[in-house]
Amino acid sequence: MTVTIVGAQLGDEGKGGVVDLYGDAADVVARYQGGDNAGHTVVHGGETYKLSLVPSGAVRGKVGVLGNGCVVNPATLFEEIDTLREKGLDPDVRIARRAHVILPYHRVLDGIEEDVKSDDDLAAGTTGRGIGPTYEDKMGRRGVRVGDLLDPDTLRDRLEYVVPQKRALAEDVYGIETGEAFDVDHLYDSYREYGERLAEEGMTVNAGEFLADRIADGENVMMEGAQGTLIDIDHGIYPYVTSSNPTAGGACVGTGLAPTTVGQGEVIGIVKAYLSRVGTGPLPTELAGVEGQTPGYSGDSDAEAEELATYIRDEGGEYGTVTGRPRRVGWLDMPMLRHAARVSGFTGLAVNHIDVLAGLDEVKVGHTYDLDGEERDSVPATTERWGRCEPNYRTFDGWPEVDWSAVAAEGYGAIPENARAYLEYVSDELDTPVYAVGVGPGRDDTVVVERPF
Ligand code: GDP
Ligand code: IMO
Ligand code: MG
Repeated sequence: MTVTIVGAQLGDEGKGGVVDLYGDAADVVARYQGGDNAGHTVVHGGETYKLSLVPSGAVRGKVGVLGNGCVVNPATLFEEIDTLREKGLDPDVRIARRAHVILPYHRVLDGIEEDVKSDDDLAAGTTGRGIGPTYEDKMGRRGVRVGDLLDPDTLRDRLEYVVPQKRALAEDVYGIETGEAFDVDHLYDSYREYGERLAEEGMTVNAGEFLADRIADGENVMMEGAQGTLIDIDHGIYPYVTSSNPTAGGACVGTGLAPTTVGQGEVIGIVKAYLSRVGTGPLPTELAGVEGQTPGYSGDSDAEAEELATYIRDEGGEYGTVTGRPRRVGWLDMPMLRHAARVSGFTGLAVNHIDVLAGLDEVKVGHTYDLDGEERDSVPATTERWGRCEPNYRTFDGWPEVDWSAVAAEGYGAIPENARAYLEYVSDELDTPVYAVGVGPGRDDTVVVERPF
């Protein structure tokens, strides 16, 4: 069977940890979209593993698959595999021959396009990994696929067609000087080498066939979504989104497993008990703001909101891992979660980070929105209208700081009563049972209610 892990909000909900938690019963862990824009954390045995491309099952020694829906930067993939090997893991990663390849010019163009868009407040605050430009080329039918790296003639043909177009775009439209990143011979040599390593290590597969065969043999496949529902290209806050489908439908088209196969399994929505956001665009339940990301924010919101935002940010470690930039934070947003639950058909929920909110006198939730005098319980389809939504809050009594390891060991009943009331509200509103509750970053810091496999 399959278990599909989907981010219910804006990314960084703790998907990696849940994949690791349930990964003991999985035989294969497959990513179905995104690329090295993801950063999934697994904390176990005194080690913190940060995974961008290698599926999080690697920490438990499970076979990892990057499905056709992923975009793969071979340079960062090999770097990550080598780093994990130094940490004592032995990642077994298979890559779909249908997956698209990120080339150096995609990263350059990602940066330029963000710069240009920022003049009109349209920049999403991308990770700069070339994700959008690579998916654009995939849809424009001018992409380079992993399978092409294995065949020198095809690789050269593809590059000779596309690279002059990219160079013209960079030089003639954006007026930048191009170098190696736009040079056919250079790209051919380096990507040919990647192809050789992929072939030598037997890393490429026909992913759909590979996964379907495993399932036919009675094995368990975990599908590891990256990003989250509200940054889905179709169902998110366009244009402040990523360029793929993190929602459950993406698990089918992004692996080649049929919807009937994925639909017979479970789909678990990963929920952070509050909101965090890296990037721009509206966020109705945001507390205070972050300059450069929150529209119109210049550090002048009220002192109480600032204090709360700083508290949650510090407790949750909501600072960028690379730049140290503060992340935007906000109260849980139920219209967002209702939308996510409907789009992906969650059969269970994992609610993480309830430990982060401990110690607050009260905890708020955006229960519904008001938009143009009407109350609504889900997100509108345009981002402009979403930006005008005013949350109607519900207030819950806070819960105390407790020994969370002891809670995780004892089980659901040991969770402080007010936190349970909060969890039960979320579960009732979404009509979906809570399968797991995260009370800290480590594998053992989770209250497990149900095991989906
Ligand atoms: P992902 O992208 O969804 O896999 O999430 P990230 O790894 O980017 O971010 C989640 C962060 O929160 C990581 O540092 C995790 O170790 C940590 N984390 C996950 N679950 C919990 C939890 O329940 N409580 C706390 N305090 N931290 C958690
Ligand atoms: P994980 O898998 C949080 C955001 C970026 C930006 C937008 C587009 O760790 O949850 P992109 O580089 O994808 O073109 O950027 O999406 N973003 C994420 N935010 N978690 C992620 O991944 C993200 N991946 C992309 O900040 O707003
Ligand atoms: Mg992350």
